[in-house]
Amino acid sequence: MSTTRTSVHGQWSSRLAFILAATGSAVGLGNIWKFPYITGENGGGAFVLVYLVCIGLIGIPIMMAEVLIGRRGRQSPINTMMTLAKEEKLSKVWALLGWSGVLAGVLILSYYSVIAGWAMSYIFRAGSGAFVGVTAEGVSSIFSALISDPERLLAWHTLFMVMTLIVVARGVRSGLELAVRYLIPLLFVLLFLLVGYAYTTGHFGEALEFLFKPDFSKLSAESVLIAMGHAFFTLSLGMGAIMVYGSYLPANVSIARTSIIIAVLDTLVALLAGMAIFPIVFANGLEPGSGPGLIFETLPIAFGHMSFGTLFGVLFFLLLSFAAWTSAISLIEPAVAWLVENRNMTRVQSTIWCGVVVWLVGLGSVFSFNLWSEFRPLGMFPVFADKNFFDVLDFITSNVMLPLGGLLIAVFAAWRLSRSTSFDELKMGDGLAYPLWRFLVRYITPIAVLIVFLDALGILPDF
Ligand code: TRP
Repeated sequence: MSTTRTSVHGQWSSRLAFILAATGSAVGLGNIWKFPYITGENGGGAFVLVYLVCIGLIGIPIMMAEVLIGRRGRQSPINTMMTLAKEEKLSKVWALLGWSGVLAGVLILSYYSVIAGWAMSYIFRAGSGAFVGVTAEGVSSIFSALISDPERLLAWHTLFMVMTLIVVARGVRSGLELAVRYLIPLLFVLLFLLVGYAYTTGHFGEALEFLFKPDFSKLSAESVLIAMGHAFFTLSLGMGAIMVYGSYLPANVSIARTSIIIAVLDTLVALLAGMAIFPIVFANGLEPGSGPGLIFETLPIAFGHMSFGTLFGVLFFLLLSFAAWTSAISLIEPAVAWLVENRNMTRVQSTIWCGVVVWLVGLGSVFSFNLWSEFRPLGMFPVFADKNFFDVLDFITSNVMLPLGGLLIAVFAAWRLSRSTSFDELKMGDGLAYPLWRFLVRYITPIAVLIVFLDALGILPDF
């Protein structure tokens, strides 16, 4: 009983176009900026292992659930949830899932754009030759000069938002598909090159050990929550981004196969980034747990010492900015699609409205690194005691909103949608694939998310 619904916003031209767009959404700052720095902060190997397990057991099944829900509903996540709830005779409360996704997208993009601004400013830093022969102290002072200047951060944040809005305003097909087709492969090439440089530092083995040799004594309940939250973040799950991309997916494409391809590519990029960065960290006696500045304080050392470093430096930060760009688009698409559907606005008008809101919230993250660096908005709660505005937003979105959103998506797809609906969308044949998916999203995913949550909140006893 396939539906013949189509999306008012358009459709991807092919399966490849969807893979590129979804990979463009997944691969971004999360892989190259966030993964290395949180791995450094959470002790390495054991954290990476938990993250990989979460990608396989939670991430891929939820990605399939999101795509299937999106393609079935063919609207913005809010209206898709509303329509499916009605068709399957479920409570309208499910639409709230769409709303929380819109909110999470706006909040994440507000700080994502600020960090993307750092990457853009580094294109010019690299191009000006500032990294040539630089020392570890040198790069660190270049970095602090940037983040301590609110005006520069604001200018880059504004520019990045404008660039994002331009692509979103143009709609699903033009621009976006084209950008990812060439940029993602090029990003891989550059990462391999950096890993090659990292190999020459003589500390490659130490880095591999750090990344892949688990030491469970370094793993706290909070680290497990952060690893799980990052699995959602890096695959763009839990807020409707992949759902809305799924709503533009042609009917005959296999959801399972494409989801696996996307997750594998995304994970590869993260691991390559780790293998490029940690050898440099160890070779220069830097601190792996130094926080959000990690890649900005390590990679320039590589560019400063390799041949053609200026060229590669420019290219690398250019690609990183592009990767951030193709991710940013998916963070705002659910909100924009909803405004077009419900508020009778043109795509351009909705995009501008959403952009203004995101830009304003982003000011809080701009100031987190300078004027408000001592401000602790939720300082009265122990978990937030040492977190500034940026840290609070990041924690609440990645570690609370995305896993909870993902949990509810899993429950909806596996417990509330009828078996015939999900079977019909997933088209996995009569083998074991469909029952395996259903088992994972029915039992494993919800239970895993709940346990990690309760444990991090200190509600489970120690074991
Ligand atoms: N996955 C992207 C990254 O790793 C960020 C991102 C894009 C995202 N869309 C999302 C994160 C939706 C969570 C939800 O950089």
